[in-house]
Amino acid sequence: MLRFCGQASPRPGRDLLRLLTCGSVDDGKSTLIGRLLYECGSIFDDQLGTLQRESRRFGTTGDDLDFSLLLDGLEDERQQRITIDVAYRFFATPQRAFIIADTPGHEQYTRNMATGASTAELAVILVDARKGLLPQTKRHAYICCLLGIRHIVLAVNKMDLVDFEQSRFQNIAEHFSKFAAKLGEISVAAIPLSARLGDNVTEISARTPWYRGPTLLEHLHSVDVSNSGVDRPFRFPVQWVNRPNGDFRGFSGTVVSGSIAAGQEVLLAGSDRSARIKEIVTFDGAADRAREGDAVTLTFETDIDIARGDLLAKPGEAPEHVDQFAAYVIWMSEQPLVPGRSYLLRVGTRTVPGTVTALKHRVDVETLAHLADRTLRLNEIGFCNLSTAAPVAFDPYDACRDTGAFILIDRFSNETAGAGMIAFGLRRASNIHWQALTVGREERAALKDQRPAVLWLTGLSGAGKSTIADIVEKKLLALGRHTMLLDGDNVRHGLNRDLGFTEADRVENIRRVGEVAKLMAEAGLIVICSFISPFRAERRLVRELAAPSAFLEIFVDTPLEECMRRDPKGLYAKAKAGRLEHFTGLDSPYEVPEAAEIRVATIGISPEAAAEQILAELRGRRII
Ligand code: ADX
Repeated sequence: MLRFCGQASPRPGRDLLRLLTCGSVDDGKSTLIGRLLYECGSIFDDQLGTLQRESRRFGTTGDDLDFSLLLDGLEDERQQRITIDVAYRFFATPQRAFIIADTPGHEQYTRNMATGASTAELAVILVDARKGLLPQTKRHAYICCLLGIRHIVLAVNKMDLVDFEQSRFQNIAEHFSKFAAKLGEISVAAIPLSARLGDNVTEISARTPWYRGPTLLEHLHSVDVSNSGVDRPFRFPVQWVNRPNGDFRGFSGTVVSGSIAAGQEVLLAGSDRSARIKEIVTFDGAADRAREGDAVTLTFETDIDIARGDLLAKPGEAPEHVDQFAAYVIWMSEQPLVPGRSYLLRVGTRTVPGTVTALKHRVDVETLAHLADRTLRLNEIGFCNLSTAAPVAFDPYDACRDTGAFILIDRFSNETAGAGMIAFGLRRASNIHWQALTVGREERAALKDQRPAVLWLTGLSGAGKSTIADIVEKKLLALGRHTMLLDGDNVRHGLNRDLGFTEADRVENIRRVGEVAKLMAEAGLIVICSFISPFRAERRLVRELAAPSAFLEIFVDTPLEECMRRDPKGLYAKAKAGRLEHFTGLDSPYEVPEAAEIRVATIGISPEAAAEQILAELRGRRII
């Protein structure tokens, strides 16, 4: 049920409530869920037997059942007494069925909490009555709201440890409702309880005579999460094109919103192509209609060109289709977000390269203040502009969670680095059209009688890049080639004079130079670029930008010690003396190329010989 990965949630209904529990370590989540399951009769006899045995062995509750042990499936978790993953539990009463996402409380697991929250309608946020609200309490409430949860239960737990004192409960409840008022339209119910002893969980407690509200279970029964009958637009992200033989062509996926009937017209989002549905094929045969949550295969009366990742809708209810939009992003990686860097963006079943073009503000989750910042670190939340390599179809997250959520994937580690909720599309790009030109790269290059190419020299400061690049250009000139040399120090005097040496600035430095190199290659030139360009991600980006011109990554491989010994500009000495920050190789990393076309090891050879090695490669590759 990871909505962020394009899987659909179960079909909603008045009889099903999806909820999420969150709280800090030791607030008693597992105990509360365990007790709910137990009291609603959702525990089997054998589980109960195990629980009795384990309560005696590991429990912290004397002779009573320790419900936290029921949930902690993992042995090591049991020893550490923390919960480390999202666990989904199911239980039902005659009035309603429930799916609980149990998510961990310690700060670094925002990822799991967001996953759990993305499918839930209600959140139970636990606080320890002794401790009151913690920073995480506010963080969790804010994330829940951001992810579309509109009902919050503040479970003030461990009331037994504060002698069921009314004023303590009231202080906490008031403090929270002040904060929650800033979160927009949400319902908040504060309930004083003891998960361990059972007070106000399923039965009203005699020890809180001052509390007039419902028990937790009563509240869970009564909260209204129906869609009030509003018809939501039909949305069907295509997961798979099903073609078992030449005669059959179906499109498989899950209806994530609305419904569709056989015979109705369906539109391919982002196009003006549509077709009429011939058949809705389900696991149990043909169906007349497919509704939210149904996994089906659609066939069409006429041929329509649809691929995996496309989004189907109904004509007149098309989703937005743009390549720039604004969104909230929750950062989940140890590696901070770098605006300008290329990530993979997955929305629904579609994956495209995408970048954060601007971090508009970061949100202080305790005060909800908007802060200026240049990056997002682990667990931080920001409002960003994003741009994708191709247009994507989406709905604002508020309108449809499934088509409005996305994840950002690190292109090297493949980890999910961030999760986003789209706020609105930016129309800028859709008003700018690509102008077709008569004279192109080929014609310009033909006139010069050469193959355009980008020669990208990367390596540490002092490695010899600029010296070698200079000789390479001189030699190419002598051969009658048309060239241009872009050099780090020089470009930073002009085009990039506004950039420094932070990670974000270096990324932007290389992005701009990559764009310039691309234009120059389109002018038919052989472009020689000499930049430290310390990060793999941006070297990959300039390679992608340069295509279809030839791109050669040239690693000028000089060990750090040798660069420090040479120190042509005295910068290493300055950095070591503490007078220069973020110096590559010292307090800023250099990621060694893994698959450079050319590696020039400079120790023991002259710059002249290094340049000759590069020219030999160019001849070998028929660039000259
Ligand atoms: S890059 O990292 O963004 O690719 P670039 O090649 O443009 O760097 O610029 C590197 C040059 O800037 C170095 O050769 C050096 O002369 C100078 N410089 C000044 N400060 C730094 C620094 N902190 N780290 C690296 N180079 C620096």
